Amino acid sequence: TLTQADKAAVVTIWAKVATQADAIGTESLERLFFSYPQTKTYFPHFDLSQGSAQLRGHGSKVMSAIGEAVKNIDDIRRALAKLSELHAYILRVDPVNFKLLSHCILCSVAARYPNDFSPEVHAAWDKFLSSVSSVLTEKYR
Ligand code: HEM
Repeated sequence: TLTQADKAAVVTIWAKVATQADAIGTESLERLFFSYPQTKTYFPHFDLSQGSAQLRGHGSKVMSAIGEAVKNIDDIRRALAKLSELHAYILRVDPVNFKLLSHCILCSVAARYPNDFSPEVHAAWDKFLSSVSSVLTEKYR
């Protein structure tokens, strides 16, 4: 679970991430599809070439959901309830893929803000993204 210090670290770095959220979201998806090509099977209807309009649009949506989770860091479950139903019941995304995307988001943030990415911030983001993933996959059970 996220400690008060973790929450503070997430909120602090989010203030920077939010200013480049679309680019970071797009980069995270590019990393996901490039490093873990099997994840592309969920997006047969997308043009997944680098920088495509669909990739950028989706990157932006993913990051605004992350932003909602940051804003509601004490009640991520409620903030992402609808998204959780979508991923579980309609999209049926295998939970392993959430770890892969979380890793790619972590890398994109680290690559952009190397000086802010202390071990404490790294750990806090990792825990936060894992809470978001738990919420988005818990309806499977
Ligand atoms: C759709 C967020 C993980 C596959 C979406 C949408 C958001 C979102 C905001 C758009 C919902 C809407 O249009 O109402 C997230 C977040 C994730 C996550 C925050 C984890 C941090 C994943 C993973 C996969 C995935 C791991 C599969 C590899 C999809 C697909 C759609 C979708 C296929 C529908 C795309 C479309 O047809 O427009 N997600 N997602 N998501 N997500 Fe996720």
